[in-house]
Amino acid sequence: MSDQLKRQAALHALDEIRDGMIVGLGTGSTAAHFIRELGRVRLQVAGIPTSEESRRLAEETGIRLTSFEENPRVDVTVDGADEVSTQLDLLKGLGAALVREKIVAQASERVVIIVDESKLVDRLGQKNVIPIEVIPFAVPRVLLLLRELGGAARVRQRDGRSFVSDNGNSIVDWNHGMIDDPAKLEKQLKSLTGVVDSGIFANVAHCVIVAGSQGVRKLQRA
Ligand code: 5RP
Repeated sequence: MSDQLKRQAALHALDEIRDGMIVGLGTGSTAAHFIRELGRVRLQVAGIPTSEESRRLAEETGIRLTSFEENPRVDVTVDGADEVSTQLDLLKGLGAALVREKIVAQASERVVIIVDESKLVDRLGQKNVIPIEVIPFAVPRVLLLLRELGGAARVRQRDGRSFVSDNGNSIVDWNHGMIDDPAKLEKQLKSLTGVVDSGIFANVAHCVIVAGSQGVRKLQRA
């Protein structure tokens, strides 16, 4: 069911795309639906992937790829999210692509987020940890600082080892709990030396397409 809803949201996002656009390609299972559908409709676009996984998928589906060297500005980015608040702030990064996702989103004229309704929350942090990408040398220091701020922090593992991001860094998952002021906490985390960025995306989404059992709706930033 949830996968069908993710596909519905992805299909609606195609309405945002026109021939000639530079399109940011998000990461995760919902963004993967979008990439497959975009490949299928054969619009004349060029994509900038936000992860190696999305790059591979875009190549398989025949989407022409470009880079910031060729195109430093992106027309529209379509990406998923782990949580979307009532203010349309986002928590992202359970898929570990948060740094490239944020870089591509910041380069974009328009950011469209696609989710199924299970991702909607009153306040960020309600269901998920905050993923934080950290330079490996700084990990013990950042863990200490996060624990001092409050809440358990652990290095993400895969197959019994520290997970390594596409950028060669570690991911620290911080169990902060409810976030009162996402923009403030995003800035605070970014100020810790060794932190590359966090999965808090405050004031980034222009529009969120939500697919639910009652249909698809589009939430616009006020
Ligand atoms: C990856 C992300 C994803 O967009 C987020 O985890 C949502 O993934 P999914 O669509 O599989 O639920 O931020 O870094």
